[in-house]
Amino acid sequence: MSQNQPIIFPKEFLWGVATSSYQIEGAWQEGGKGESIWDRFTHAPGTIEDNTTGDIACDHYHRWQADIALMKSLNIQSYRFSIAWPRILPQGRGQLNQAGMDFYSRLVDGLLEAGITPFVTLYHWDLPQALQDKGGWPIRSTAEAFASYADLVTRHLGDRVKNWITHNEPWVIAFLGHQFGEHAPGIKDWNAALRTTHHLLLSHGWAVPLIRVNSPGAEVGITLNFTPTEPATTDPNDFNVYRHFDGYFHRWFLDPLYGRRYPSDMISDYIDRGYIDDMSFTLPGDMQTIAARTDFLGVNYYTRAIVSAASNPDKVDEVIYPGSDNEHTEMGWEVYPEGLYNLLNRLHFEYRPPKLYVTENGASYSDGPNGDGRIHDMRRLSYFNSHLRAAHRAIQNGVPLAGYFAWSLMDNFEWAKGYLQRFGLVWVDYDTLERTPKDSALWFKDVIKENAIVG
Ligand code: FCB
Repeated sequence: MSQNQPIIFPKEFLWGVATSSYQIEGAWQEGGKGESIWDRFTHAPGTIEDNTTGDIACDHYHRWQADIALMKSLNIQSYRFSIAWPRILPQGRGQLNQAGMDFYSRLVDGLLEAGITPFVTLYHWDLPQALQDKGGWPIRSTAEAFASYADLVTRHLGDRVKNWITHNEPWVIAFLGHQFGEHAPGIKDWNAALRTTHHLLLSHGWAVPLIRVNSPGAEVGITLNFTPTEPATTDPNDFNVYRHFDGYFHRWFLDPLYGRRYPSDMISDYIDRGYIDDMSFTLPGDMQTIAARTDFLGVNYYTRAIVSAASNPDKVDEVIYPGSDNEHTEMGWEVYPEGLYNLLNRLHFEYRPPKLYVTENGASYSDGPNGDGRIHDMRRLSYFNSHLRAAHRAIQNGVPLAGYFAWSLMDNFEWAKGYLQRFGLVWVDYDTLERTPKDSALWFKDVIKENAIVG
């Protein structure tokens, strides 16, 4: 197909942008909010590459009305944002902080007035510190606390919000937070990480039916992160490493969610390596709970991995993004649109979720304003262009992809990288907090208007 032929998306295709609470809100101590594990983590010296915090971030807490107007000006149809659990429940459970709920309630009303569909993530990593102090995700009662929190939020917002995501990227929460210690809460313990995976999935399974009751007609799903993996060569040892990495990143989450229980090869690997003695943290009934029917699967895709027998699973960053000659973004991630195409097909043909959304996809480049006041972020624009073409080809294969959320609406606090990595469609000047749409945003605006990629 010629590059110039329009690539037309299905009529109801949903075009959105995504953010998360800790990365944009700021106001870390305002409106009765409790401390989160990210507040604690970023305030500890040496945790974040540029020694910054999300204390102010993009100040979205105070600028949300202007941010809605900005989205509207860019034709955005849906806004995926997350709720900060410690704004709702400063101690993680118990007494509702009404001011916190009011903030999100006003945000939802503002979005609806602007004709923008709210797509709400309940947990994008900012656990109340009070729950961490009692043991955090490695203990089962945190999963119970999440179910109560999900119940509370959806009882208040479920009349107006009709799209719910329970968790964002359980792999990252469990392993970057509890195995590598690069993310909050900064733990380095395989056993804690694996218990965390189970409690996250369990809490998802408990939350799904509660959300359905509180939010009639709503669609509910979970978002996973995917790093499609390939063996470096056809050597059987490379294949075995590929099997393990795919199990670790993907099957450990997908299989239980789609009723297949934890993959037995991975249970054996983890026991053989001494990470766990057994699966005794899985109680009778848990696997049925986790396999609760969902309406969609959220897919976060950025890059792929190529692994070889030399790969060291304790150093994922060193092994999963080895060089190809393809371009790499400033995160060091290979630009590989084919990976999104392959992934969407795999998920559809192997797991058959009723529908899929790309809930995150994007690229970090630091191109900023030049003399004419514009931001010519051509590499980001072409990243979006190529990945949307890949998504479109998957749709043509029959993959029920219902929408696409660009990561991110605006530059923001990129976790362990601080403000050094910019993923935004919109530039944020961190001195003035002024927002300026980049060329990629203006291009995306036209794509949404036409419901097509034209050229
Ligand atoms: C994902 C996170 C998101 C953002 C992007 C770049 O893993 O969900 O918050 O940091 O990576």
